[in-house]
Amino acid sequence: MTDAATTTGRRRYAVIGTGHRAGMYVGALLDAHAADGEIVAWVEPNPVRAAVHEARVAAAVGGTRPVYGPDDLEKAIENERVDRVIVTSPDRTHADLVCRALRAGADVVVEKPIAATAEQARLIVDAVQETGKDVTMTFNYRYSPRNAALREVIRSGEIGDVVAVHFDWALDTVHGADYFRRWHREKDVSGGLLVHKSSHHFDLVNWWTGLAPRRVFAAGGRRFYGDDAAHATYEPNETEQALQAQGVDPWALDLDKNPYLSELYGPEAQAVDGYRRDRSVFDPDIELEDTLSLVVEYEKGAVLTYSLVAHAPFEGYRVVVTGTRGRAELEVVERGSVAFGESGTAVIDPSATPEAWENDPRPFGERLVVQRHWERAREWPIAEGIGGHGGGDAFLLRDVFTGAPDDDPLGRAAGYLDGVRASAVGYAGNRSLATGDPVALDDLGLGVSL
Ligand SMILES: NC(=O)c1ccc[n+]([C@@H]2O[C@H](COP(=O)([O-])OP(=O)(O)OC[C@H]3O[C@@H](n4cnc5c(N)ncnc54)[C@H](O)[C@@H]3O)[C@@H](O)[C@H]2O)c1
Repeated sequence: MTDAATTTGRRRYAVIGTGHRAGMYVGALLDAHAADGEIVAWVEPNPVRAAVHEARVAAAVGGTRPVYGPDDLEKAIENERVDRVIVTSPDRTHADLVCRALRAGADVVVEKPIAATAEQARLIVDAVQETGKDVTMTFNYRYSPRNAALREVIRSGEIGDVVAVHFDWALDTVHGADYFRRWHREKDVSGGLLVHKSSHHFDLVNWWTGLAPRRVFAAGGRRFYGDDAAHATYEPNETEQALQAQGVDPWALDLDKNPYLSELYGPEAQAVDGYRRDRSVFDPDIELEDTLSLVVEYEKGAVLTYSLVAHAPFEGYRVVVTGTRGRAELEVVERGSVAFGESGTAVIDPSATPEAWENDPRPFGERLVVQRHWERAREWPIAEGIGGHGGGDAFLLRDVFTGAPDDDPLGRAAGYLDGVRASAVGYAGNRSLATGDPVALDDLGLGVSL
């Protein structure tokens, strides 16, 4: 069992960064994992956002938990006798917070990506090696039953040794657009989509295949969002015009229509730090790429071709894995098309809230097909999931809070090295975009063998 499981009693947690994502961990510690740990402190520069989570905890368990600013992280860990911190702050802040928490004696649970840049990831590698403390990466996509099923297929040897993976991920014009509204739009804050978003996908490939990435060539850029890309000369189609006639701006996020987002990011929170959650995706200062393609070489000669677009009319992904004895194909539709409810809103992340799409030529669903040489293709069963992110979140939280069993045949629990290995493909991709050349991961100076 991992460290978390061998400790008796409830662990004392500090949550660092109390925005939207923190809510999942807060909910788990109030509900399914209340017996495994308790929140004893918040570390957050914006007291309005911290108060939203504090009110939820106080309503459930009573008492009050102090809010510390990021500069007082060490004080929070010492004063509140924190065993473990959960880092859900913006990506650029991860390395500083993770390293300081480790050196102050706490173990760490950190959201992806491990860090925004290779230099920041190196700081974490050094801090882990120096302190010997534990870092858990929360790669929730590994826990989604459909992704686990593909891992089973490859592990079973059914398709032989993997030689090629083709991976195509489409983010739609609501979820994809959301990365262009706030801090993600600045590349040095999020690492760009190749780090912020695709590190999930690169982790899946590393985990599915058990192969380490070696060299990356990337191409792409910002082709749609911003003030000077496709939208600058874009004619809305009839459907968009009809939405506009009903007073719906399909590109905008209206905080007033979402009470939870409004509490976290509305005028009161904005007055503290100026953080705007709902900026225009067609602003002039957006650095983030929205259309990306990569070729990645892995050990043993395997190759990945990868594509990410953040402005597709539907949301989902396709993975084709070719092995020496056959082929596996996973096809997932998370949202067949974007539709707006009566209030004029669409759910931002469809993977967290599966929707039914009846009579749609692209219905919500998932299918894994396996075919061996000389045989007909057959469908591989996918287990039923529970809750958000394709059923992944509940299983992830179990491993995070109760400790992953050593005998998980799928090896889903992830540590700092998995985090570095996944983000390294994105760091190399960013360098390749900048230079136009392929980039070897060994040249990133990560201080650890991948
Ligand atoms: N695994 C997933 O599917 C998934 C989904 C969403 C977000 N995330 C990750 O979770 C993290 C948070 O995302 P979010 O959408 O909640 O962001 P957010 O902007 O909503 O929340 C971040 C919070 O951190 C606070 N903060 C800023 N600087 C800080 C610092 N130095 N120290 C402490 N707190 C600081 C902000 O004030 C804000 O309250 C990101 O790393 C993101 O990549 C992961």
